[in-house]
Amino acid sequence: MRNNFSGSLAVAVALLFIGVLYIFNLQNYANTLRSTEYPVDDLEAALRKAAAGNNKTVIITMVNKAYVEDVGRGRTMLDLFLESFWEGQGTRPLLDHLMVVTADQTAYDRCRFKRLHCYKMETDGLDLEEEKIFMSKGFIEMMWQRTRLLLDVLRRGYHVIFTDTDVMWLRNPLSQLNVSLDMQISVDSTFRGGHLINTGFYHVRSNNKTISLFRQWYDMRLNSTGMKEQDVLKNLLDSGYFDQLGLSVGLLNTNEFSGFCQDSSDMGAVTTVHANCCRHISAKVFDLTRVLRDWKRYKASHVNSKWSPHVMCGRSWNDTYIPNL
Ligand SMILES: *[C@@H]1O[C@H](CO)[C@@H](O)[C@H](O)[C@H]1NC(C)=O
Ligand SMILES: *[C@@H]1O[C@H](CO)[C@@H](O)[C@H](O)[C@H]1NC(C)=O
Ligand SMILES: *[C@@H]1O[C@H](CO)[C@@H](O)[C@H](O)[C@H]1NC(C)=O
Ligand SMILES: *[C@@H]1O[C@H](CO)[C@@H](O)[C@H](O)[C@H]1NC(C)=O
Ligand SMILES: *[C@@H]1O[C@H](CO)[C@@H](O)[C@H](O)[C@H]1NC(C)=O
Repeated sequence: MRNNFSGSLAVAVALLFIGVLYIFNLQNYANTLRSTEYPVDDLEAALRKAAAGNNKTVIITMVNKAYVEDVGRGRTMLDLFLESFWEGQGTRPLLDHLMVVTADQTAYDRCRFKRLHCYKMETDGLDLEEEKIFMSKGFIEMMWQRTRLLLDVLRRGYHVIFTDTDVMWLRNPLSQLNVSLDMQISVDSTFRGGHLINTGFYHVRSNNKTISLFRQWYDMRLNSTGMKEQDVLKNLLDSGYFDQLGLSVGLLNTNEFSGFCQDSSDMGAVTTVHANCCRHISAKVFDLTRVLRDWKRYKASHVNSKWSPHVMCGRSWNDTYIPNL
Protein backbone atom coordinates (compact mmCIF):
# COMPACT_ATOMS: atom_id res chain seq x y z
CA MET A 1 0.00 0.00 0.00
CA ARG A 2 2.69 2.39 1.06
CA ASN A 3 4.72 1.71 -2.03
CA ASN A 4 1.67 2.13 -4.18
CA PHE A 5 0.84 5.48 -2.56
CA SER A 6 4.27 6.98 -3.08
CA GLY A 7 4.16 5.52 -6.58
CA SER A 8 0.95 7.43 -7.42
CA LEU A 9 2.33 10.54 -5.73
CA ALA A 10 5.39 10.37 -7.97
CA VAL A 11 3.17 9.97 -11.03
CA ALA A 12 0.99 12.86 -9.94
CA VAL A 13 4.01 15.11 -9.39
CA ALA A 14 5.44 14.08 -12.74
CA LEU A 15 2.11 14.82 -14.50
CA LEU A 16 1.88 18.18 -12.76
CA PHE A 17 5.42 18.98 -13.88
CA ILE A 18 4.66 18.01 -17.47
CA GLY A 19 1.46 20.06 -17.30
CA VAL A 20 3.34 23.14 -16.12
CA LEU A 21 5.94 22.67 -18.86
CA TYR A 22 3.15 22.33 -21.38
CA ILE A 23 1.50 25.56 -20.27
CA PHE A 24 4.83 27.39 -20.42
CA ASN A 25 5.40 26.08 -23.90
CA LEU A 26 1.94 27.16 -25.01
CA GLN A 27 2.66 30.60 -23.68
CA ASN A 28 5.98 30.72 -25.53
CA TYR A 29 4.23 29.55 -28.62
CA ALA A 30 1.60 32.27 -28.25
CA ASN A 31 4.34 34.86 -27.79
CA THR A 32 6.08 33.66 -30.92
CA LEU A 33 2.82 33.92 -32.83
CA ARG A 34 2.23 37.41 -31.52
CA SER A 35 5.69 38.63 -32.46
CA THR A 36 5.46 37.18 -35.95
CA GLU A 37 2.10 38.85 -36.36
CA TYR A 38 3.44 42.29 -35.40
CA PRO A 39 7.15 42.31 -36.20
CA VAL A 40 9.06 45.19 -34.70
CA ASP A 41 12.08 45.54 -36.92
CA ASP A 42 14.83 48.14 -36.53
CA LEU A 43 12.99 50.67 -38.68
CA GLU A 44 9.73 50.31 -36.76
CA ALA A 45 11.57 50.58 -33.45
CA ALA A 46 13.33 53.80 -34.52
CA LEU A 47 10.11 55.26 -35.92
CA ARG A 48 8.15 54.52 -32.75
CA LYS A 49 10.72 56.28 -30.61
CA ALA A 50 10.96 59.30 -32.90
CA ALA A 51 7.20 59.65 -33.36
CA ALA A 52 6.34 59.29 -29.67
CA GLY A 53 4.17 62.19 -28.53
CA ASN A 54 4.13 63.81 -31.96
CA ASN A 55 0.94 62.52 -33.61
CA LYS A 56 2.73 59.86 -35.67
CA THR A 57 4.93 62.50 -37.28
CA VAL A 58 8.67 62.00 -37.64
CA ILE A 59 11.39 64.30 -38.87
CA ILE A 60 13.76 62.38 -41.11
CA THR A 61 17.21 63.26 -42.39
CA MET A 62 19.78 61.10 -44.10
CA VAL A 63 23.54 61.13 -43.66
CA ASN A 64 26.53 59.21 -44.93
CA LYS A 65 30.18 59.26 -43.87
CA ALA A 66 30.85 62.55 -45.69
CA TYR A 67 28.28 64.32 -43.49
CA VAL A 68 29.87 63.25 -40.22
CA GLU A 69 33.48 63.97 -41.14
CA ASP A 70 35.47 67.09 -40.40
CA VAL A 71 35.45 69.49 -43.35
CA GLY A 72 37.96 71.79 -41.67
CA ARG A 73 38.11 73.63 -38.37
CA GLY A 74 36.44 70.70 -36.65
CA ARG A 75 33.06 71.20 -38.27
CA THR A 76 30.83 68.51 -39.70
CA MET A 77 27.60 68.95 -41.62
CA LEU A 78 25.68 66.87 -39.06
CA ASP A 79 27.01 68.97 -36.15
CA LEU A 80 25.96 72.18 -37.85
CA PHE A 81 22.51 70.75 -38.54
CA LEU A 82 22.10 69.83 -34.86
CA GLU A 83 23.44 73.21 -33.77
CA SER A 84 20.66 74.89 -35.72
CA PHE A 85 18.11 73.07 -33.51
CA TRP A 86 19.93 74.51 -30.52
CA GLU A 87 20.00 78.07 -31.90
CA GLY A 88 16.53 78.01 -33.46
CA GLN A 89 13.39 79.27 -31.75
CA GLY A 90 11.26 76.45 -30.36
CA THR A 91 13.31 73.85 -32.20
CA ARG A 92 15.15 72.14 -29.31
CA PRO A 93 12.32 69.73 -28.39
CA LEU A 94 12.02 68.70 -32.04
CA LEU A 95 15.27 66.78 -31.78
CA ASP A 96 13.33 64.08 -29.90
CA HIS A 97 11.35 63.49 -33.09
CA LEU A 98 14.29 63.37 -35.45
CA MET A 99 15.22 60.04 -36.99
CA VAL A 100 18.65 60.03 -38.63
CA VAL A 101 18.88 57.54 -41.47
CA THR A 102 22.47 56.49 -42.00
CA ALA A 103 23.84 55.11 -45.25
CA ASP A 104 26.99 53.49 -43.85
CA GLN A 105 28.58 52.21 -40.65
CA THR A 106 30.67 55.35 -39.93
CA ALA A 107 27.61 57.57 -40.05
CA TYR A 108 25.65 55.09 -37.92
CA ASP A 109 28.35 54.95 -35.25
CA ARG A 110 28.52 58.74 -35.12
CA CYS A 111 24.74 59.00 -34.89
CA ARG A 112 24.58 56.53 -31.99
CA PHE A 113 27.38 58.39 -30.22
CA LYS A 114 25.27 61.54 -30.35
CA ARG A 115 22.36 59.62 -28.79
CA LEU A 116 19.96 60.37 -31.59
CA HIS A 117 17.31 58.06 -33.01
CA CYS A 118 19.32 56.27 -35.68
CA TYR A 119 18.37 53.85 -38.39
CA LYS A 120 20.92 52.11 -40.57
CA MET A 121 19.52 51.88 -44.06
CA GLU A 122 19.77 48.65 -46.06
CA THR A 123 21.86 49.50 -49.11
CA ASP A 124 22.19 46.16 -50.92
CA GLY A 125 25.97 46.32 -50.71
CA LEU A 126 26.19 49.70 -52.45
CA ASP A 127 29.06 51.90 -51.39
CA LEU A 128 27.46 55.10 -50.14
CA GLU A 129 30.37 56.33 -48.00
CA GLU A 130 31.98 58.85 -50.33
CA GLU A 131 30.80 62.41 -50.63
CA LYS A 132 28.19 62.33 -53.34
CA ILE A 133 28.94 65.24 -55.64
CA PHE A 134 25.76 66.80 -56.98
CA MET A 135 24.42 64.76 -59.91
CA SER A 136 27.15 62.10 -59.81
CA LYS A 137 26.02 58.49 -60.25
CA GLY A 138 26.47 57.86 -56.54
CA PHE A 139 24.44 60.95 -55.66
CA ILE A 140 21.53 59.81 -57.80
CA GLU A 141 21.63 56.29 -56.38
CA MET A 142 21.60 57.60 -52.81
CA MET A 143 18.58 59.79 -53.54
CA TRP A 144 16.66 56.81 -54.91
CA GLN A 145 17.48 54.76 -51.81
CA ARG A 146 15.97 57.51 -49.74
CA THR A 147 12.77 57.54 -51.81
CA ARG A 148 12.45 53.80 -51.24
CA LEU A 149 12.92 54.22 -47.51
CA LEU A 150 10.34 57.01 -47.31
CA LEU A 151 7.84 54.84 -49.18
CA ASP A 152 8.38 52.19 -46.51
CA VAL A 153 7.86 54.75 -43.72
CA LEU A 154 4.60 56.05 -45.26
CA ARG A 155 3.31 52.48 -45.65
CA ARG A 156 3.80 52.03 -41.92
CA GLY A 157 1.47 54.96 -41.26
CA TYR A 158 3.95 57.62 -40.22
CA HIS A 159 3.73 61.21 -41.47
CA VAL A 160 7.07 62.64 -42.48
CA ILE A 161 8.88 65.93 -42.46
CA PHE A 162 11.88 65.20 -44.61
CA THR A 163 14.84 67.53 -44.28
CA ASP A 164 18.23 67.45 -45.90
CA THR A 165 21.07 67.78 -43.41
CA ASP A 166 22.14 71.04 -45.07
CA VAL A 167 18.94 72.74 -43.89
CA MET A 168 19.17 75.03 -40.85
CA TRP A 169 16.08 74.88 -38.65
CA LEU A 170 15.66 78.38 -37.25
CA ARG A 171 12.01 78.19 -36.22
CA ASN A 172 9.58 75.35 -35.53
CA PRO A 173 7.86 74.59 -38.85
CA LEU A 174 5.10 72.38 -37.39
CA SER A 175 2.64 75.21 -36.78
CA GLN A 176 3.16 76.47 -40.35
CA LEU A 177 2.55 73.14 -42.03
CA ASN A 178 -0.98 72.26 -43.06
CA VAL A 179 -1.96 68.72 -42.09
CA SER A 180 -4.99 68.89 -44.40
CA LEU A 181 -2.73 68.88 -47.42
CA ASP A 182 -1.28 65.56 -48.58
CA MET A 183 2.08 67.08 -49.34
CA GLN A 184 3.94 70.37 -49.03
CA ILE A 185 7.24 70.85 -50.84
CA SER A 186 9.88 73.54 -50.65
CA VAL A 187 10.97 75.35 -53.81
CA ASP A 188 14.24 76.83 -55.04
CA SER A 189 12.56 80.07 -55.88
CA THR A 190 9.05 81.37 -55.75
CA PHE A 191 7.39 81.24 -59.14
CA ARG A 192 9.55 81.84 -62.08
CA GLY A 193 7.35 79.62 -64.22
CA GLY A 194 6.87 75.91 -63.55
CA HIS A 195 7.32 74.24 -60.21
CA LEU A 196 10.88 74.67 -59.06
CA ILE A 197 10.35 72.12 -56.32
CA ASN A 198 13.21 71.08 -54.09
CA THR A 199 13.00 67.75 -52.28
CA GLY A 200 15.47 68.95 -49.63
CA PHE A 201 12.55 69.83 -47.37
CA TYR A 202 9.01 68.56 -47.56
CA HIS A 203 6.07 67.43 -45.48
CA VAL A 204 4.06 64.38 -46.49
CA ARG A 205 1.05 62.79 -44.79
CA SER A 206 0.68 59.03 -44.79
CA ASN A 207 -2.40 57.97 -46.79
CA ASN A 208 -3.31 55.87 -49.82
CA LYS A 209 -2.70 58.72 -52.23
CA THR A 210 0.75 59.59 -50.98
CA ILE A 211 1.72 55.91 -50.80
CA SER A 212 0.65 55.54 -54.47
CA LEU A 213 2.65 58.62 -55.36
CA PHE A 214 5.81 57.40 -53.65
CA ARG A 215 5.44 53.94 -55.18
CA GLN A 216 5.11 55.45 -58.65
CA TRP A 217 7.98 57.84 -57.97
CA TYR A 218 10.24 54.99 -56.90
CA ASP A 219 9.18 52.79 -59.86
CA MET A 220 10.12 55.59 -62.25
CA ARG A 221 13.82 55.12 -61.39
CA LEU A 222 13.79 52.16 -63.79
CA ASN A 223 13.09 54.33 -66.82
CA SER A 224 14.63 57.59 -65.66
CA THR A 225 18.32 56.73 -65.98
CA GLY A 226 20.59 59.63 -65.07
CA MET A 227 17.71 61.74 -63.76
CA LYS A 228 17.64 62.71 -60.14
CA GLU A 229 14.59 61.80 -58.12
CA GLN A 230 13.67 65.46 -57.70
CA ASP A 231 13.30 65.94 -61.47
CA VAL A 232 11.24 62.77 -61.69
CA LEU A 233 8.89 64.10 -59.02
CA LYS A 234 8.72 67.41 -60.85
CA ASN A 235 7.69 65.55 -64.02
CA LEU A 236 4.99 63.71 -62.10
CA LEU A 237 3.72 67.04 -60.80
CA ASP A 238 3.87 68.83 -64.15
CA SER A 239 2.27 65.91 -66.01
CA GLY A 240 -0.82 66.08 -63.80
CA TYR A 241 -0.17 62.79 -61.99
CA PHE A 242 -0.86 64.42 -58.62
CA ASP A 243 -4.27 65.55 -59.92
CA GLN A 244 -5.00 62.04 -61.18
CA LEU A 245 -4.46 60.72 -57.68
CA GLY A 246 -6.54 63.56 -56.24
CA LEU A 247 -3.52 64.50 -54.19
CA SER A 248 -3.45 67.99 -52.71
CA VAL A 249 -0.06 69.61 -52.78
CA GLY A 250 1.15 72.96 -51.54
CA LEU A 251 4.41 74.73 -52.30
CA LEU A 252 6.23 76.29 -49.37
CA ASN A 253 7.11 79.95 -49.67
CA THR A 254 10.78 80.95 -49.73
CA ASN A 255 10.07 83.76 -47.31
CA GLU A 256 9.77 81.07 -44.60
CA PHE A 257 11.32 77.98 -46.20
CA SER A 258 14.28 79.62 -47.85
CA GLY A 259 17.64 78.70 -49.28
CA PHE A 260 20.68 80.02 -51.06
CA CYS A 261 18.89 80.01 -54.45
CA GLN A 262 16.51 82.60 -53.04
CA ASP A 263 17.19 84.11 -49.63
CA SER A 264 14.32 84.96 -47.33
CA SER A 265 14.10 88.71 -46.99
CA ASP A 266 12.45 88.47 -43.58
CA MET A 267 14.46 87.20 -40.63
CA GLY A 268 11.32 87.68 -38.57
CA ALA A 269 9.59 84.91 -40.51
CA VAL A 270 12.37 82.69 -41.81
CA THR A 271 11.92 79.10 -40.65
CA THR A 272 14.47 77.06 -42.58
CA VAL A 273 17.53 77.91 -44.68
CA HIS A 274 18.69 75.29 -47.17
CA ALA A 275 22.15 75.33 -48.75
CA ASN A 276 20.67 74.64 -52.18
CA CYS A 277 22.35 76.00 -55.30
CA CYS A 278 25.61 74.72 -53.84
CA ARG A 279 27.78 71.91 -55.10
CA HIS A 280 29.67 70.35 -52.22
CA ILE A 281 29.71 69.85 -48.52
CA SER A 282 32.68 71.98 -47.46
CA ALA A 283 31.21 75.06 -49.18
CA LYS A 284 27.83 74.38 -47.57
CA VAL A 285 29.33 74.10 -44.10
CA PHE A 286 31.27 77.32 -44.60
CA ASP A 287 28.29 79.35 -45.82
CA LEU A 288 25.76 77.82 -43.39
CA THR A 289 28.08 78.68 -40.50
CA ARG A 290 27.61 82.29 -41.61
CA VAL A 291 23.84 81.79 -41.69
CA LEU A 292 23.90 80.73 -38.04
CA ARG A 293 26.11 83.71 -37.21
CA ASP A 294 23.65 86.09 -38.95
CA TRP A 295 20.78 84.40 -37.15
CA LYS A 296 22.41 84.84 -33.73
CA ARG A 297 22.88 88.53 -34.48
CA TYR A 298 19.22 88.79 -35.43
CA LYS A 299 18.15 87.05 -32.21
CA ALA A 300 20.19 89.51 -30.16
CA SER A 301 19.06 92.65 -32.01
CA HIS A 302 15.72 91.79 -33.67
CA VAL A 303 16.90 93.93 -36.51
CA ASN A 304 16.15 92.43 -39.89
CA SER A 305 19.26 92.57 -42.03
CA LYS A 306 20.64 90.99 -45.18
CA TRP A 307 22.23 87.56 -45.04
CA SER A 308 25.97 87.32 -45.57
CA PRO A 309 26.71 86.46 -49.20
CA HIS A 310 27.10 82.75 -49.92
CA VAL A 311 30.56 83.13 -51.33
CA MET A 312 31.86 79.57 -51.10
CA CYS A 313 28.70 78.08 -52.58
CA GLY A 314 28.88 80.59 -55.41
CA ARG A 315 32.42 79.43 -56.13
CA SER A 316 31.63 75.75 -55.68
CA TRP A 317 30.32 75.46 -59.26
CA ASN A 318 33.55 76.73 -60.71
CA ASP A 319 36.28 74.96 -58.84
CA THR A 320 38.17 72.21 -60.52
CA TYR A 321 39.46 71.17 -57.13
CA ILE A 322 36.96 69.13 -55.16
CA PRO A 323 38.07 68.59 -51.59
CA ASN A 324 38.93 65.00 -50.85
CA LEU A 325 36.93 64.31 -47.71
C1 LIG B 1 -1.88 66.22 -32.09
O1 LIG B 1 -3.09 66.44 -32.78
C2 LIG B 1 -4.10 67.02 -31.97
C3 LIG B 1 -5.39 67.05 -32.78
O2 LIG B 1 -5.18 67.54 -34.07
C4 LIG B 1 -3.64 68.40 -31.53
O3 LIG B 1 -4.62 68.99 -30.70
C5 LIG B 1 -2.35 68.27 -30.74
O4 LIG B 1 -1.86 69.54 -30.42
C6 LIG B 1 -1.31 67.52 -31.56
N1 LIG B 1 -0.17 67.25 -30.72
C7 LIG B 1 1.07 67.55 -31.10
C8 LIG B 1 2.15 67.20 -30.15
O5 LIG B 1 1.31 68.08 -32.18
C1 LIG C 1 -5.01 73.91 -45.19
O1 LIG C 1 -5.38 73.27 -46.40
C2 LIG C 1 -6.78 73.14 -46.57
C3 LIG C 1 -7.01 72.29 -47.80
O2 LIG C 1 -6.44 72.86 -48.94
C4 LIG C 1 -7.39 74.53 -46.68
O3 LIG C 1 -8.77 74.44 -46.84
C5 LIG C 1 -7.05 75.33 -45.43
O4 LIG C 1 -7.49 76.66 -45.55
C6 LIG C 1 -5.56 75.33 -45.16
N1 LIG C 1 -5.30 75.90 -43.86
C7 LIG C 1 -4.46 76.89 -43.70
C8 LIG C 1 -4.29 77.36 -42.31
O5 LIG C 1 -3.84 77.39 -44.61
C1 LIG D 1 -6.65 52.71 -48.33
O1 LIG D 1 -6.70 51.52 -49.05
C2 LIG D 1 -7.07 50.41 -48.29
C3 LIG D 1 -6.90 49.17 -49.11
O2 LIG D 1 -7.35 49.36 -50.43
C4 LIG D 1 -8.51 50.62 -47.80
O3 LIG D 1 -8.91 49.53 -47.03
C5 LIG D 1 -8.54 51.89 -46.97
O4 LIG D 1 -9.86 52.17 -46.61
C6 LIG D 1 -8.00 53.06 -47.75
N1 LIG D 1 -7.88 54.18 -46.86
C7 LIG D 1 -8.24 55.38 -47.19
C8 LIG D 1 -8.06 56.42 -46.17
O5 LIG D 1 -8.68 55.65 -48.30
C1 LIG E 1 8.10 55.08 -66.69
O1 LIG E 1 7.50 54.03 -66.02
C2 LIG E 1 6.30 54.36 -65.36
C3 LIG E 1 5.92 53.18 -64.50
O2 LIG E 1 5.97 52.00 -65.21
C4 LIG E 1 5.26 54.75 -66.37
O3 LIG E 1 4.06 55.08 -65.74
C5 LIG E 1 5.78 55.94 -67.11
O4 LIG E 1 4.88 56.32 -68.13
C6 LIG E 1 7.14 55.65 -67.72
N1 LIG E 1 7.67 56.87 -68.23
C7 LIG E 1 8.33 56.93 -69.35
C8 LIG E 1 8.85 58.27 -69.73
O5 LIG E 1 8.49 55.96 -70.06
C1 LIG F 1 36.12 80.45 -62.51
O1 LIG F 1 37.42 80.54 -61.96
C2 LIG F 1 38.37 81.12 -62.84
C3 LIG F 1 39.73 81.02 -62.18
O2 LIG F 1 39.68 81.35 -60.83
C4 LIG F 1 37.95 82.54 -63.16
O3 LIG F 1 38.88 83.14 -64.06
C5 LIG F 1 36.57 82.53 -63.79
O4 LIG F 1 36.12 83.84 -64.02
C6 LIG F 1 35.59 81.80 -62.92
N1 LIG F 1 34.32 81.65 -63.60
C7 LIG F 1 33.16 81.96 -63.04
C8 LIG F 1 31.95 81.72 -63.87
O5 LIG F 1 33.07 82.42 -61.92
